[in-house]
Amino acid sequence: MANIVVVGVQWGDEGKGKVVDFLSERFDVVARYQGGNNAGHTVVVGEDKIVLHLIPSGVLRKGKVCVLGNGVVIDLGELIQEMDQLERLHVKFEDHFFISRRSHLVLPYHKLLDVAHEQRATKKIGTTGRGIGPAYVDKMARVGIRIGDLHQPALFRERLSQNLAEKRAQYPESRALASLEPDRLFHDHLKHYERVRTFLTDASLVLDRLMTEGKRVLFEGAQGTLLDVDLGTYPYVTSSSATAGGACTGTGVSPKRIDGVLGICKAYTTRVGEGPFPTELLDQVGDRIRERGAEFGATTGRPRRTGWFDAVGVRYAARVNGLDALALMKLDVLDGLETIQMCTGYRYRGELLTEFPGEADVLAECQPVYESLPGWKESTVGIVEEGRLPANCRAYLRHLEALAGVPLALISTGPRRDQTIVRSGALLKNWGLASDQQ
Ligand code: GDP
Ligand code: IMO
Ligand code: MG
Repeated sequence: MANIVVVGVQWGDEGKGKVVDFLSERFDVVARYQGGNNAGHTVVVGEDKIVLHLIPSGVLRKGKVCVLGNGVVIDLGELIQEMDQLERLHVKFEDHFFISRRSHLVLPYHKLLDVAHEQRATKKIGTTGRGIGPAYVDKMARVGIRIGDLHQPALFRERLSQNLAEKRAQYPESRALASLEPDRLFHDHLKHYERVRTFLTDASLVLDRLMTEGKRVLFEGAQGTLLDVDLGTYPYVTSSSATAGGACTGTGVSPKRIDGVLGICKAYTTRVGEGPFPTELLDQVGDRIRERGAEFGATTGRPRRTGWFDAVGVRYAARVNGLDALALMKLDVLDGLETIQMCTGYRYRGELLTEFPGEADVLAECQPVYESLPGWKESTVGIVEEGRLPANCRAYLRHLEALAGVPLALISTGPRRDQTIVRSGALLKNWGLASDQQ
């Protein structure tokens, strides 16, 4: 029996959606624990590509229980659109879908505040504009509105008016905020509430009961370690606890229930939005990786910044998440490169750093120290047996694994479920993810 956290180890978009979909076959429950519809998790099944923003990526597997934990912030309009999209695809999930009554709402004024804040700021974060930061600000300031509050319309109406008045006073220049009509907002949300009310529950209790019955839970992280509000490259982060620890606070599940942590990591690095990125490539190699890897945001469509694999960041992620294993994604994107670089340390003001610094301004001054490895000419797309990978590719994997200090459990050679190498090993067997034959 094993409950596993799946967590991004870089700056998001590592391929969590693919891995959660892939693994969820062997789990009973998939639970999101933080973030909101700033996330874009892509799942490719056959010819179909589905991007999920809120609903867990296990939803495409029949009968899997899907849970939105208390740590998630929910834009109800967006959630309902996602539900409609799944209905159009004939995906049935409504009788095994649960939403924590404690999760906070992202309201239209949060989105306007997100944009207004970015416009005002001299140092922009490059947010997704989905209102995520402002919704978490309200939660922490103890003025947020929780989804469960919608069952008391009068109270909801009062809080809405109060919050909106405060936001308007904060941003008098925002014409959009001034023209938001609280009545309309109120009525829209009561309508949304009718659509989702049957899914609302005490999700912590539901998860506890399921686990006690022996059901296995996969906790699906959004964003990534380096975007975590505490442990990421602050202030260039998102506003939630994306690291593995967030799985407990974001679902109301005890750390004692968690048996393993799987880190999701690209064979290179990407970042969307602003902030330091030591191994960033601003040349043709960077463009090539962007093109081959289709590195354009699944939520905003923005081109992603690209760069080499950074072992300093990954080792840091291994420590703060307690990674048991890594899933290495998008190996195929490196096919055809003459040489591949891997960052093993940083040079900072003449000093060699081997630990990830806690300050964004220090990281911004860090120059990567690289090791070069020969690339491979052959295509690795869709390879499912490790022995079939080109020799240089296998050497690269061995080196990456040694640098990261974490065993590779899965290696991904394409966006589809069947384009995955499952490594044999005791760990995966313990987790019930590999058979004895493998
Ligand atoms: P997430 O946010 O971590 O779920 O990742 P995204 O879905 O935002 O971005 C990952 C992208 O890479 C998606 O378009 C996936 O379909 C794609 N992808 C995942 N694994 C692989 C792989 O091994 N090779 C290739 N070429 N694409 C992949
Ligand atoms: P998934 O789950 C990549 C980035 C934004 C911005 C910063 C803050 O798909 O990996 P926010 O809107 O959250 O306040 O923006 O965080 N960001 C992501 N980058 N993948 C994501 O999610 C992200 N969610 C937020 O680009 O730099
Ligand atoms: Mg994404």
